[in-house]
Amino acid sequence: MVKLTYLGHACFILSNGRESLIFDPYINGNPGAGDLDPQNIEVNYVLVSHAHADHLGDAVEICQHNNAILISTFEVGNLCRSQGVSRIHTGHIGGRANFPFGYLRFTPALHGAGVAGGLACGFYVNFHQRGIYFAGDTGLFSDMRLLGQLEDIDYALLPIGDNYTMGPADARLAVEMLNPKVVIPMHYNTFELIRQDPYQFKAEVEARGKVRVEVMAPGDELELE
Ligand code: NI
Ligand code: MN
Repeated sequence: MVKLTYLGHACFILSNGRESLIFDPYINGNPGAGDLDPQNIEVNYVLVSHAHADHLGDAVEICQHNNAILISTFEVGNLCRSQGVSRIHTGHIGGRANFPFGYLRFTPALHGAGVAGGLACGFYVNFHQRGIYFAGDTGLFSDMRLLGQLEDIDYALLPIGDNYTMGPADARLAVEMLNPKVVIPMHYNTFELIRQDPYQFKAEVEARGKVRVEVMAPGDELELE
């Protein structure tokens, strides 16, 4: 069984019970993570889309106590190395890499990297035959259509908060280009500036066709088919 757990903001854990990875491990300061202690998170891989504090989060601590592999772009990887992370897999946009769980692809993101000379990214992860696109922080871009052609996207994790990323209207266009089976909104309601109604987004996406929207509350788990 493959399970996706939402910890609020853009933080998700993907696990099959033996292998697990965390996306953008923002725990301390994240209202969705509540009292969760990063020391209690057990994962094999830590994926970081960019170095803004609400994404890099507690990556260094989580890597260290799990001896986990940090996966990010070269520039963010180097930043984490300088902060004491020893096991790092760096790549860059457009590249694919194989892992015991499947493979991943570094995808473009229209956003700042939070580190000099870098680029923010997203990730397409093929995890035990489930295709998950984690868009990261990004504005809408039309090459999402290309990604939808290159990879089978079962689950698309898309920001809808607006202001720093796509808002709900742009995310609806992203859904049309990506052609996923299921959409999970993220990066909303953590702060006042990104307040959105995910159920309105769900109603509008589902009114247009066959794509299902799963609104996850922080702490919710979803079994991936
Ligand atoms: Ni950001
Ligand atoms: Mn952010």
